[in-house]
Amino acid sequence: MSARHRVVVARYLPAAGRERLAERFDVDEGTAALDRAELMRRVAGADALVADPTVAVDADLLDAAGPRLRVVANFAVGYDNVDVDACRARRVAVTNTPDVLTNATAELTVALMLAAARRLGEGERLLRAGRWTGWEPGQLLGRELSGAVVGIVGLGRIGTRVAELLRGFGVESLYAARSRHLEAEERLGARHATLEDLLAESDVVTLHAPLTPETRHLIDRDALARMKPGAVLVNTSRGGLVDAAALADALARGRPAAAALDVYEEEPRVPEELLALEQVVLAPHMGSATTAARDGMALLVADNVIAVLGGGAPVTPV
Ligand code: DGY
Repeated sequence: MSARHRVVVARYLPAAGRERLAERFDVDEGTAALDRAELMRRVAGADALVADPTVAVDADLLDAAGPRLRVVANFAVGYDNVDVDACRARRVAVTNTPDVLTNATAELTVALMLAAARRLGEGERLLRAGRWTGWEPGQLLGRELSGAVVGIVGLGRIGTRVAELLRGFGVESLYAARSRHLEAEERLGARHATLEDLLAESDVVTLHAPLTPETRHLIDRDALARMKPGAVLVNTSRGGLVDAAALADALARGRPAAAALDVYEEEPRVPEELLALEQVVLAPHMGSATTAARDGMALLVADNVIAVLGGGAPVTPV
């Protein structure tokens, strides 16, 4: 029997991280298609579990892993899929992958913001459907970011990077956060506001908060009713922050005017009401989907597993 530690990867890990782990440990990798029953079997006796946002790491899975388990390394910065209390109760460390995906996610946020504001999705669908009859003075008029008030909900790493990227567009930045970020206020000219004021004043609202019981449906019917009639809502954080049914109703009434979403409450299900609306740009949870970000995430996962199984402190604990 091998004396090497056993690392179970619930689905799969990019080669950069997998190879670093395989140099030291026995790595049992799954496949893209997650089979929960099979994972419950595979995880038995694992020293480390590599999860991702599609893998619910709950008490049942931890119990199936058993007492050898020392670390759950999540291949994501968000960790709402992990029952952190259940891990703590079993002395299992939990780690995530901050920083390495900040820029990729912030860039996708800006791309979605522009796509919704400039109606790119509508334009591409029109053209691909063969319905474009040539340049028209009044066709697909959108709004420019220049001069817009952009409200950033959550000024953590990604929210701050979004504010940095937007400086070149000449926007006015507002942010809502539990505490003031004086450095960002000074450096980026971002103004602190309550969520209510931010919703009322912003032409674009972008969400960068983690999903917690407090932030679930933060953007509900009341919040949407506070938004400006022509505003754009962007969400690249977690789908659960937005009440999608309320958003579809609000969009149908033009308030907000448009939305761009990368995340959904019950992925991969995208609510029919949203699919039916022209003014919504829909992306398949691809905020961190660049080679650089995913390699960085994979390496950080590996470094966290190596640190904990080596008896040290995790590199990026949650
Ligand atoms: C995350 O990191 O939380 C993203 O959702 C996946 O990269």
